[in-house]
Amino acid sequence: MAQLWGGRFTKATDQMVFDFNASLRFDSRLLTQDIQGSIAHATMLAKQGILTEEEKCAIVDGLSGILKDVGDGKLPIDKGQEDVHSFVEAALIQRIGETGKKLHTGRSRNDQVALDMRLYTRERVLVTDGLLKELLEVLLSVMEKNLDTYMPGFTHLQKAQPVTLAHHFGAYFECFRRDRGRLWDLYRRMNVCPLGAGALAGTTYPLDREYVANLLSFDGVTQNSMDSVADRDYLIEFLSALSLIMMHLSRFCEEIILWNSNEYQFVELDDAFSTGSSIMPQKKNPDIAELVRGKTGRVYGALMSLLTMMKGIPLAYNKDMQEDKEVSFDAMDTVCDCIRLFTGMVRTMKFNRERMERSALMGFGNATDAADYLVGKGVPFRDAHGIIGRLVLYCVKKGCAIDDLSLDELKGICGRFEEDIYEAISLKACVERRLTVGAPGRKAMEEVLEKYRKYLNEE
Ligand code: ARG
Repeated sequence: MAQLWGGRFTKATDQMVFDFNASLRFDSRLLTQDIQGSIAHATMLAKQGILTEEEKCAIVDGLSGILKDVGDGKLPIDKGQEDVHSFVEAALIQRIGETGKKLHTGRSRNDQVALDMRLYTRERVLVTDGLLKELLEVLLSVMEKNLDTYMPGFTHLQKAQPVTLAHHFGAYFECFRRDRGRLWDLYRRMNVCPLGAGALAGTTYPLDREYVANLLSFDGVTQNSMDSVADRDYLIEFLSALSLIMMHLSRFCEEIILWNSNEYQFVELDDAFSTGSSIMPQKKNPDIAELVRGKTGRVYGALMSLLTMMKGIPLAYNKDMQEDKEVSFDAMDTVCDCIRLFTGMVRTMKFNRERMERSALMGFGNATDAADYLVGKGVPFRDAHGIIGRLVLYCVKKGCAIDDLSLDELKGICGRFEEDIYEAISLKACVERRLTVGAPGRKAMEEVLEKYRKYLNEE
């Protein structure tokens, strides 16, 4: 049990209190950021004449050595320390002696942890963005190959009108592209340095905050020292963006689970991305998709945790805020794993084109087009609507698609049908006629794909 404080205490901390209060178990994850921040702080202190050049060098060497030795497994993280900040400072003093005690000049653990969390979160935003980009690349390559893979589009999970696989994937491309945009927005907003805020009221030392911010690649410094140590908005924004990513992944997973079922058979998951049953030898289960769908709950949970944890805290720092870490770290890890796994699953998945097309045909998605055909032959629309309605009923009884009927059967219902009906109501014709911006017709889709390619090359 070792602490950075104790001067004003007459009794040792109760062991239970120490354990309850300590955060090293989970904040040791911030070791790299803590040392990065401390090196920048010491460099600035020397530039301002608060440390001598030799003191700075000893501190910087000591800190770099600690980072390296922990990485190489030579320096175990001392479980007796309260948090990562205490661990680093104690290790530094042990290495370089008295000079190590000068590092914390003009700094508090409150602005230190605010800095560490920002540095860490900033990196995780970029990693998440990179993973989303890889997912978009996979989606785009599926789209490019499936501009004329016709499938039913659904509303109310009932077949509605035919679309293409490319168009369906395009909807998710839009979702994940927005998700990336949200990450960029919050990155821009959060990329300011809180160091120099001290415990809450700044410091009397002539710190150069801009200089530290520059060393750590921030765009600037925070403008209110109380807010600097009390703000976790950027984490909540990130968790909110992560929740939306999970919501999109989860919806997509739900569809893949349906599509992979015996009833649909639109897709087949690769063996490497499926799991078996301990009792039923025939089973090949979509566990990965189900787990991604399931893990959405814990990411939403992290967002709710943080919103609730922050809502009653008076300014400025309060220890409640230490609770920001475990749930956030868990959510960040979970989402990265989910995007990685999901991308692999989609990359290796096989699409059953025939099943999709057959399903689209059996859904009467071309009924409106059949009515329009009769209108073209001079039948008033209201009459055409009734005729096609009867035609659909006939097909339902027979268990076939409109396209399966012979010309004689068609003529039996309406004399205006000619041989050209088959072409007019083919899936291809139904889809290709839909050419407004954002519609599934090939020409419209190709224009969008061109934009997507450019977007992925540039961003
Ligand atoms: N472990 C603390 C946290 O995560 C670090 C800041 C401690 N500051 C303090 N005054 N107790 O929030």
